[in-house]
Amino acid sequence: MITPKADAIFDPLYIPPKLYHREKELNELLKLIADNKTSNLLLYGPSGIGKTLLARYALVTFPQNMEAEVTPIFVNFCYKSFREIMYQVNASICNNKLLDSIPISASITELWNTFRRLRRGIENKVVIILDDVDENNHNIHKKFLQESKELGITTIATAQTGYARKIRKEHEPRSQLDNAIFLDLYSENELMDITYQRVTTAFPSFIRPSTMRFLTDIVLEFDIGRPSTIIEILKRIYPISVGGADILPIHIQEASSNIFTVQDELSIIDSLTQTSLMTHLLFQKIARVFQKYLYEPYISLNEIKKEYSLLYEELKVDINQDELVESIDDLLRTGLIFQSHFDPELFYIIVPPKKIIEILDLTFDGKYD
Ligand SMILES: Nc1ncnc2c1ncn2[C@@H]1O[C@H](COP(=O)(O)OP(=O)(O)O)[C@@H](O)[C@H]1O
Ligand SMILES: [Mg+2]
Repeated sequence: MITPKADAIFDPLYIPPKLYHREKELNELLKLIADNKTSNLLLYGPSGIGKTLLARYALVTFPQNMEAEVTPIFVNFCYKSFREIMYQVNASICNNKLLDSIPISASITELWNTFRRLRRGIENKVVIILDDVDENNHNIHKKFLQESKELGITTIATAQTGYARKIRKEHEPRSQLDNAIFLDLYSENELMDITYQRVTTAFPSFIRPSTMRFLTDIVLEFDIGRPSTIIEILKRIYPISVGGADILPIHIQEASSNIFTVQDELSIIDSLTQTSLMTHLLFQKIARVFQKYLYEPYISLNEIKKEYSLLYEELKVDINQDELVESIDDLLRTGLIFQSHFDPELFYIIVPPKKIIEILDLTFDGKYD
């Protein structure tokens, strides 16, 4: 059995046992490192998509023949000055051993020269991850790009798409950037695999696959397919799991409402006023189904149809199927219900059902009796 690991959720530099759905990019990166004595590489794509992880994963999971020959260095550039970055590079290249010999007052030039000297003392290929290069540290990044050939180092920078576009243009003529790898969004199922992996490694209590799918669905709907957002929600529900309680859809809904802007009471009422009476009553029935089945994050089209028929029975009028399609469309359009990215016949709500029922009762109680 795998022991649950809280750092799989709380350590931003945690490396999962397997990197999912980046086989192509990982192989490409490893090949570029193996084939070249020195090169300047760039991993780019939206934030939270796995750039840092891919770079780090490559460096800790080198194939055996490569492992012995490479000295990996990791330094994060975000919000750091040139001096801080060089200090970190030097510290990690000598495993913090020789740092006493670097005077605190050392200038940037001296720090850079120390780096040269330390690098010369290493026979291995040196690979440095320059994590989060951006506008603010562009000059430092440029310096590494310019000097890497002479120093005999390979750089792997990670950057967001905008900055990547800029430096790719800038360096084209002199080709200081040798290769760039774009990391695209994950598909629905790929993101689900990542959620599943993280939950099963990190969580002490069991979470139903349907609940994990629900979490993934919400992130796909309210964000883009970004694993970092999945982990943000997992952080918020982790304490519940540690407390020994089951994770229910309502916990996911509550955690999501802290991250995304979901409908508040007023906008629910506002949305409802845009719909017909039947839609309204149907929504009430749907909310009651969710409240009854606490473990079930989805309602199927068939169940909605059933509730709709019941509604007609209660009202003692003949059923109108066209109106059902219209009602569901209205509920989707006004953001009162959402359609699953995994199955078009499954629907969910983002506001906890109890709250919906309260609002409906308060606002519309007696109005239609
Ligand atoms: N393919 C993947 N498999 C497993 N976890 C992933 C994968 N891609 C991203 N993650 C996780 O998603 C989170 C964000 O990844 P990160 O590398 O920090 O993104 P970026 O550097 O692009 O902002 C991290 O917790 C990371 O472990
Ligand atoms: Mg990163």
